[in-house]
Amino acid sequence: MADRIEVLYDEETLGKRIRELGEEISRDFEGKEITIICILKGASFFACELAKRITVPVYFDFMRVSSYGNETESSGVVKIVQDLDEPIRGKNVIVVEDIIDSGRSMHYLFEILRSRGPASLKLCSLLNKPDRRVTEVDIDYNGFDIPDKFVVGYGLDYAQKYRNLPYIGVVIPEE
Ligand code: IMP
Ligand code: MG
Repeated sequence: MADRIEVLYDEETLGKRIRELGEEISRDFEGKEITIICILKGASFFACELAKRITVPVYFDFMRVSSYGNETESSGVVKIVQDLDEPIRGKNVIVVEDIIDSGRSMHYLFEILRSRGPASLKLCSLLNKPDRRVTEVDIDYNGFDIPDKFVVGYGLDYAQKYRNLPYIGVVIPEE
């Protein structure tokens, strides 16, 4: 059965905001190199587009984490399913995530990454649901604040579906 999906941000709007974030990061890190950590799988589309808009040298690495919990609620205890290829000690790290919801996953992951001794550690998220926050998380580069709705597309999934949509949309549950 097909779910109904209402467009929240179309491709052009996303592209424009991602370009702005890339420019902001490029300014902040002028004369330096950065390491982007793309959080798989959700942030993959965003991280690729963002990296293309950054004008300082970028190292690109991936991490896959799974948070113990059910489909819609993360427990905050994060298991590293796939770790980085390279150490981050002394590096300027920007974690790129798709969405911050309760904030539990990033709070926990940041503790792990901080213990590895990066020179700096920042968070960039395409989307943010401030109403859902349980654990405080500082988002250094935030794409959009969104209402408490379940969204898909541009890397985000609903039961592994809809990642490939070129826009962000709200899933309208069928009655
Ligand atoms: P947090 O630990 O509650 O902040 O969980 C954040 C993670 O939950 C994100 O990385 C997504 O994988 C998932 N998530 C939260 N809200 C949504 C949504 O609206 N659509 C798709 N995935 C979501
Ligand atoms: Mg995720």
